[in-house]
Amino acid sequence: MITVRKAKMEEAQKIMDLHCDTVQRVNSRDYTEEQIKAWLGVRKIEITQGMIRDGQFYVAVDDTDRVLGIGSIKGNVLFGLYVSADHQGEGIGTALLDQMEKDAARVGITQIETESTLTAEGFYKRHRYGEVERKTVTIARGQSLKVVFLKKVLL
Ligand SMILES: CC(C)(COP(=O)(O)OP(=O)(O)OC[C@H]1O[C@@H](n2cnc3c(N)ncnc32)[C@H](O)[C@@H]1OP(=O)(O)O)[C@@H](O)C(=O)NCCC(=O)NCCS
Repeated sequence: MITVRKAKMEEAQKIMDLHCDTVQRVNSRDYTEEQIKAWLGVRKIEITQGMIRDGQFYVAVDDTDRVLGIGSIKGNVLFGLYVSADHQGEGIGTALLDQMEKDAARVGITQIETESTLTAEGFYKRHRYGEVERKTVTIARGQSLKVVFLKKVLL
């Protein structure tokens, strides 16, 4: 059974590792090796730890408390929804998204926005996120990523 809960500080490294593995094994179908290197190169554990401290990071865990998915939300901006490459398509992304949307609605947020990878675009659209615009964001080392800016009004 999958449980979604807020991440604990000691899970920061596990979160970083899952993110890295999923980008390399799943997002690699939409982005080049150079883009992925630059993308992963800008990450810092201190940022993840700060977001955990602020209660912005969620994890999806199995019965043995193994982290199989991660997601974060700051105000009404959702980012960093990643599911283990070995557990894609099992409903984990949906469980994380549902929980984050529910918690956001509870504190009065009425609209969520996100800059999605090309890889997750279909997932967000399946969850009634509407495309606002397609963008190219600069990351580092002269690399940029094509992303899709999407919004959803919470009912
Ligand atoms: C996007 C992601 C988080 C979805 O998580 P998941 O656990 O695999 O998704 P779910 O199993 O909950 O899928 C829910 C529904 O969305 C659909 N779906 C999932 N990914 C999809 C995609 N890329 N395109 C179209 N539909 C998709 C599923 O078919 C499913 O539909 P159903 O309810 O009709 O069966 C996951 O694929 C992932 O980790 N992607 C790579 C990381 C990434 O790019 N994250 C976004 C960062 S902004």
